[in-house]
Amino acid sequence: MRIVMIGSGYVGLVSGACFADFGHHVCCVDKDASKIDALREGRIPIFEPGLDELVARNVEAGRLEFTLDLAQALPGADAVFIAVGTPSRRGDGHADLSYVYAAAREMAGQLRPGAVVVTKSTVPVGTGDEVERIIRGARPDLEFSVASNPEFLREGAAIEDFKRPDRVVIGVNDEHAATVLREIYRPLLGAETRLLMMKRRAAELTKYAANAFLATKISFINEIADLCEKVRADVHDVAEGIGLDTRIGPRFLQPGPGYGGSCFPKDTLALLKTAQDYETPIRIVEAVVSSNDNRKRSMGRKVVNALGGEGRGKTVALLGLTFKANTDDMRDSPSLAIVRALQDAGAAVRAYDPEGMEQAAKLLDDVTYCGDAYEAMEGADAAVIVTEWDAFRALDFERVKDTLKEPVLVDLRNLYDRADVERQGFRYVAVGR
Ligand SMILES: NC(=O)c1ccc[n+]([C@@H]2O[C@H](COP(=O)([O-])OP(=O)(O)OC[C@H]3O[C@@H](n4cnc5c(N)ncnc54)[C@H](O)[C@@H]3O)[C@@H](O)[C@H]2O)c1
Repeated sequence: MRIVMIGSGYVGLVSGACFADFGHHVCCVDKDASKIDALREGRIPIFEPGLDELVARNVEAGRLEFTLDLAQALPGADAVFIAVGTPSRRGDGHADLSYVYAAAREMAGQLRPGAVVVTKSTVPVGTGDEVERIIRGARPDLEFSVASNPEFLREGAAIEDFKRPDRVVIGVNDEHAATVLREIYRPLLGAETRLLMMKRRAAELTKYAANAFLATKISFINEIADLCEKVRADVHDVAEGIGLDTRIGPRFLQPGPGYGGSCFPKDTLALLKTAQDYETPIRIVEAVVSSNDNRKRSMGRKVVNALGGEGRGKTVALLGLTFKANTDDMRDSPSLAIVRALQDAGAAVRAYDPEGMEQAAKLLDDVTYCGDAYEAMEGADAAVIVTEWDAFRALDFERVKDTLKEPVLVDLRNLYDRADVERQGFRYVAVGR
């Protein structure tokens, strides 16, 4: 199959490289010249474990290429995937579909008869209808299909997720699109992966429902964690106690500083907007969004409390800035709210993150970025673990004590055992225990 991938970000690049690895010919397109230049020079513009090797191997094999020129990529394409961003629209939280519709307009003139256009971007119900309308408007006589194939990969484990997904969701309104997409995903279809064929609108909604449900699980355990702190119970015991019930499941029950990243915050908001538009409010998700917003900022207050209730004149070392480990993605990371809350309280912030500092520097002012965790802790009144990077899982506590001004560790990811840390003479503040 010949595939064009419009958008070469986290999703487009990983999907394109994996499709090439399945044996398809893939051309990844992007408007961002710096990305395409980097990829052509063999550099990967994002941090994603294993992606450099996967891309290099498929470029070498002649199955994967990169271009700025969509018109040059399109002739002969059996399927054109749209994997551009769908951020929150400023002001109202609706998904901003301008990039998706622009891609539809840009491709319309060059599509070959029988081409299948596939939205991989996360898009609200009905977007496929509009993509179809745009292309039909430009090419009234063209035979083409529009399908939905939402992506469920997680940054940091994206290649594994793409190649061994729990399921592949495909939304089609005609048999030709189903045949082409089945062929594209055929290499995955063994005993392990189920390919779910459904109507396009159901596929579009499935993605939002999945993310909203996962966000709900996170907020649920975070609120239970707060209650645990009040009643002196350990949230990990409770999480295990409920998670072993197969109706609930153990995953997404780790308490922390709140969900962030490029998907959950914007997708929960967009789902609420769709629900409002259809006059079917989803109160549970409304509560989740508000709970998570409050939580991110309340983590800043938790740190100030650990400093004795006063931030002014204090310095805090943040270990980790990205919304989770193994990514450089800073979009909507809880660290953004935490840093602002600390600065509002008058504290100075030093920080170290293995991959996220370049992106963080674009979003945060007045933070001192450091070369490693120990440098960040130099002279600080407390260290705060914000992201669960492996680099923070085995800190040398003797060295930490010598480096910090005060031996205070706030562990927002519960990486350590309280008794172990306290035995080393630290004041230890965790989440829900
Ligand atoms: N990042 C994730 O973990 C993840 C997971 C599942 C789904 N998604 C969804 O996938 C979509 C893409 O997300 P992402 O994180 O890859 O975004 P991203 O911002 O990393 O990448 C999007 C890319 O599209 C390019 N682009 C925009 N308009 C273009 C056009 N007309 N032609 C060519 N290139 C264009 C941009 O330059 C950018 O490089 C979003 O809808 C997102 O919600 C993301």
